[in-house]
Amino acid sequence: MSDTILILGACGQIGTELTQRLREIYGSEQVIASDIREGDAAFLNSGPFEIINVLDRDRILEVIQKYKVTQVYLMAAMLSATGEKMPLKAWDLNMQSLLHVLELAKDKHIQKVYWPSSIAVFGSTSPKINTPQQTVMEPSTVYGISKVSGEHWCNYYHSKYGVDVRSLRYPGIISWKTKPGGGTTDYAVDIYFKAKEEGTYECFLSKDTKLPMMYMNDAIEATIQIMQAKKEDIKMRTSYNLAAMSFTPEEITEEIQKHIPEFTISYNPDFRQEIADSWPQIIDDSAARADWNWNHKFDLELMTKEMLSNIGTKNNELLTAL
Ligand code: SER
Repeated sequence: MSDTILILGACGQIGTELTQRLREIYGSEQVIASDIREGDAAFLNSGPFEIINVLDRDRILEVIQKYKVTQVYLMAAMLSATGEKMPLKAWDLNMQSLLHVLELAKDKHIQKVYWPSSIAVFGSTSPKINTPQQTVMEPSTVYGISKVSGEHWCNYYHSKYGVDVRSLRYPGIISWKTKPGGGTTDYAVDIYFKAKEEGTYECFLSKDTKLPMMYMNDAIEATIQIMQAKKEDIKMRTSYNLAAMSFTPEEITEEIQKHIPEFTISYNPDFRQEIADSWPQIIDDSAARADWNWNHKFDLELMTKEMLSNIGTKNNELLTAL
């Protein structure tokens, strides 16, 4: 049987590009995009679109039945910085949506689930360099607490009910098509836009704050790769560490200055500094590389070339994520 995919949160930073790529692979009609609000016209015209509030289990089920959906990618979430402003709302959104989808999979309405976790599952007591797949996890943000709890729910539904749920711990994701919203790693997207548009940037993290990062193309490939991997190759049913590169604001600035020598940066750390300081600097993703052959393609140099050549062109639709 061919797969029909439902993407929840399709208008967000990752959802937008994931929808496009999955439509290329599976065909436009096989990939149902959904979000709590309508996307732009080009997005709506590229295949089926449904309005879904992920807190409404019955509505998710209605769309699953309407299109005979076999796989769900749950991309709707409140990220780390916004989550600190609305802790209970972040908890409700991030947890309840996951439990709805896991229940629907347990009841056999769908066969496979993708749910993203994050480097935010780690906290200041986790090793910061080469953070292992399995280690101490004491997150300090509500976002991190919801992700670490969600990982355990995924593992639980897999071991108790045989639910085929797969997950990746994304680092900061950098993209030019749709901007992120409410994350601590968002500076690494904003900096490219400001470099191109204004030639200067005020960074909300200090110059030596090293964080794990990844270019969107690699994140999309990893996501589809883990979903297409053989069931027996998925040995982690919590979530896989995933890595590509790590850099500081100072290092990304130097890379941008190779293309825009007059670009300047200033530093004005805010509440997000504390969040960033609690996260790992370099992630060990050897389990993903060994179990299902994960391999990244983009480093800081290549990503910077891609970002700067795409921003400000007519390719760049400048959508803003929720
Ligand atoms: N990019 C996310 C954030 O900054 C981390 O998963 O919240």
